[in-house]
Amino acid sequence: MRRRIRSFVLREGRLTKGQQQALDAFFPRFGVSLSQGPLDLVNLFGRPAGSQAPKILEIGFGNGVSLAEMAAKHPQNDYFGIEVHRPGVGNLLLQIEAQGLENIRVSHDDAIEVLQQQIPDQGLDAVYLFFPDPWHKRKHHKRRIVQPDFVQLIRGKLKMGGVFHMATDWQHYAQHMMNVMSVAEGFENCAGADQYTPRPEYRPLTKFEQRGHSLGHGVWDLVFRSI
Ligand SMILES: C[S@@+](CC[C@H](N)C(=O)[O-])C[C@H]1O[C@@H](n2cnc3c(N)ncnc32)[C@H](O)[C@@H]1O
Repeated sequence: MRRRIRSFVLREGRLTKGQQQALDAFFPRFGVSLSQGPLDLVNLFGRPAGSQAPKILEIGFGNGVSLAEMAAKHPQNDYFGIEVHRPGVGNLLLQIEAQGLENIRVSHDDAIEVLQQQIPDQGLDAVYLFFPDPWHKRKHHKRRIVQPDFVQLIRGKLKMGGVFHMATDWQHYAQHMMNVMSVAEGFENCAGADQYTPRPEYRPLTKFEQRGHSLGHGVWDLVFRSI
């Protein structure tokens, strides 16, 4: 079988002592592994049976600072974060512990496999993809995670009316996202055809973005609804 082109290159990177300790101590409680197979999202978050808490997936949460901030601000929602970079997973677990967050679960696997094998169809209210690796060089564009097959995989996991929110600081990638999404079956642009969305209040402003604004760099948000 032909090997799928991945959207990341694994740089193991150094774990701090704190991140390693957090992985050892808290991954068993908040972590999810592919070997667990298909997930029951209501059960996973430990809410009472029949809970209607919105389920939000963040793909590639990096160091997890934004994810922890959203979870702390919106305790009524449940957040599932996926990140292949181990130090990032350790860092998020540190924040979960430090802030006493109960509404986050974490996966350290490839988001494509997690979506295909573990997330129930129509199980999600929203999917966030903030600042995915832009893969600047033309020869690497095929590594960009936003591709027609990927967005249809997302569509299958969203409830009707659920949203897919992307953000990027790379204009060329923003245009690529717009091109892919504009012709994607089953989605409509919440801002109107070909329009970017002003940053919704729930997406935390990253440090990088704050600095970028003062340097005149742009950030593009795209929010599409499953129809
Ligand atoms: C440029 S970083 C952005 C991180 C974060 N969202 C932020 O805004 O700071 C993109 C992240 O996506 C992760 N990533 C890329 N492809 C992934 C995949 N298929 N599954 C899980 N994580 C992935 C990378 O490891 C990286 O940490």
